[in-house]
Amino acid sequence: MKKSDKIRVEKLRKFVLLYKVRPYHEKMEKKSTGNNEELTITLKCLFGFEQTLVEELEELGYPKAEQLNRAVRIKGTWKDVYYLNLYARCAISILVELDKFYIKSEEDLYRKSMKIKWTEIFDVSKTFAVKGAVFSTLFNNTQYPYLVVKDAIVDSFRNEFDDRPDVELKRPQVLFDLYIKENEVTISLNTSGIPLFQRGYREAVGDAPINEVVAASLIRLSKWDRKTTFLDPFCGSGTLLMEAALLASGIPSNIERQHYAFKNLKNYDESVWNDIYDNAPRNVRSLPCRIMGSDLSDEMILKTRRNLRAMSFGRFIETKVCSFDEITKEEDEAIFILTNPPYGERLAANTHELYENIGNWLKHTMTNSQAWVITSSEEGLKSIGLRPSVKHKVFNGDLECSFRMFETYAGSKRTHFPFDEEGEPQEETEN
Ligand SMILES: C[S@@+](CC[C@H](N)C(=O)[O-])C[C@H]1O[C@@H](n2cnc3c(N)ncnc32)[C@H](O)[C@@H]1O
Repeated sequence: MKKSDKIRVEKLRKFVLLYKVRPYHEKMEKKSTGNNEELTITLKCLFGFEQTLVEELEELGYPKAEQLNRAVRIKGTWKDVYYLNLYARCAISILVELDKFYIKSEEDLYRKSMKIKWTEIFDVSKTFAVKGAVFSTLFNNTQYPYLVVKDAIVDSFRNEFDDRPDVELKRPQVLFDLYIKENEVTISLNTSGIPLFQRGYREAVGDAPINEVVAASLIRLSKWDRKTTFLDPFCGSGTLLMEAALLASGIPSNIERQHYAFKNLKNYDESVWNDIYDNAPRNVRSLPCRIMGSDLSDEMILKTRRNLRAMSFGRFIETKVCSFDEITKEEDEAIFILTNPPYGERLAANTHELYENIGNWLKHTMTNSQAWVITSSEEGLKSIGLRPSVKHKVFNGDLECSFRMFETYAGSKRTHFPFDEEGEPQEETEN
């Protein structure tokens, strides 16, 4: 093949990749990480998004994911760990199991932790931390088990090198996860380090931004087809727009992120990571659909534009300073709305009036549309006056929220219908 033909073929291959993220197993030729052992990989996610993550993993080529509580488990290799840290949009962190054992006492925890070959995992020059979750009556103080495992790590290094690694709680280079449920202990490596919602693309943050992993998970949960026009009329600093565009273009959400704790491990294989990272799609010449965002605040739209500028698709996303109710559409135009209006908790708002207006706008202007709204405001949900077709309980940070889908049809003038004691809509009436 001539050199010019090869370049053309390569360009075409990259272009095709932009539109369909092929499962990892098909895409990458098998290459040794120097460590091909089968690992138990746990992807942590947020409450209510376990099935969403299972579906995402299936699309990425991992069909056998086991659903757990706020987590999903698969079997894989270190290459899968690298790949998923880059590609899994709905995971908060990715753990690799080191050991699992039973204990009867605190001493047991120390003794069994000492059996792990810590000095083979990382170098004494790296900082580390032990974090996780403890649900056990064996310990009076739930912080104490972390200290026990930390001591086991330090003592292992001292015994071998007469030296110890430093603990760094805020931004450790190596992070271990300790999970104790009654007398069952699981110790894992947190291969992500800082949580994966720190994507590295957001320079400018709004007053009440939605977490990036929540945004990606909501979009996937909504089953947006990635073709219908996407609109966020309360876009703030643009997180939902960004995650929608990343998903539609096939660009990994973490393409701008540089930090991963796995890079600080002794077994880190830079060539395998570079192969995955360099082959990831990052440039697009167009988007497969329109993506639009607006906000009342010009400061917010400025932030959105600043964040979008860093991405190749940034120029294709339409942004505007306006109130949501100034947006109109052609009657037969299909629009997919996914939005996070002010909650009242974090942003001052006359909640009743705002949500009543949102309901009226959806009903009268956004006909023949699907609108997904995430909010923690019960008053808001009551005031919207539309019957949800679907609802999910989710969390945005500590805030319990409801994520609801409203469908609006032309010709049906729905009235505000009464609500029962729990604030659930009763039978709707039409006139
Ligand atoms: C909860 S924040 C959205 C945060 C956004 N999802 C993010 O990640 O940055 C709600 C946004 O609604 C905007 N807003 C308030 N009233 C509005 C209105 N009438 N029309 C459009 N936007 C409005 C606020 O300026 C704020 O940016």
